[in-house]
Amino acid sequence: MIIANFKSNKNKSEISEWAQKFQQLAPSIQHSVVLCPPTPHLVAFETIRSERISLGVQDISSYPAGSYTGAVSTHNLVGFGVSAAIVGHSERRSHFHETNQDIANKVRECLAAGLTPIVCVSASEVVATANALDASERAKCVVAFEPIEHIGTGTSDTLAHILETKDQVISAFGKVPYIYGGSVNLSTAPEILHSPEIDGFLVGSACLDAQTFHSLIQSCA
Ligand code: PGA
Repeated sequence: MIIANFKSNKNKSEISEWAQKFQQLAPSIQHSVVLCPPTPHLVAFETIRSERISLGVQDISSYPAGSYTGAVSTHNLVGFGVSAAIVGHSERRSHFHETNQDIANKVRECLAAGLTPIVCVSASEVVATANALDASERAKCVVAFEPIEHIGTGTSDTLAHILETKDQVISAFGKVPYIYGGSVNLSTAPEILHSPEIDGFLVGSACLDAQTFHSLIQSCA
């Protein structure tokens, strides 16, 4: 599973240019790819969706549909073909002060709506994030290890540390899919991209160019 997190990048014309380029390259893709554009741009990716390429959001409301101004609920997404949501990204935790309780509520909203929650944790957050969920909820998460010191820095973590953290994740969450994010690109991460122990990647900067992102996908084992 390779997840593209566009963060708050790209306007309407930039997204449609990306979509056009990626659509041409998409037929050769053999991996599962989840595209998480800024929410207003989901429609631009509608025609790219396929058996292998699905759509996700970068965050979800911790509340159901209702009077929660500015929040995007799972109900708002019905009809857009969204199947996953990134939850608890470090940028949400730091800039928007999200707590593990907020993250647990978001996971519950996802699960109630049939969306896969992709729960982001740094190594120090693994246990507290897992403890805010019950066992049946934990079992339905995909966990993304996202070391803050490697996000957007151009250096990825070592395979040894990623695998060490995997052990912590599996003991806290159970045997869930385990993915890595933090400056994943062709030059920083060749050994990580080929590790059979890692079930996927969460890609930020390296997804912003369609051709580069496609090359990254193609280089994964
Ligand atoms: P990056 O972002 O690839 O730019 O480091 C990854 C992330 O924030 O998930």
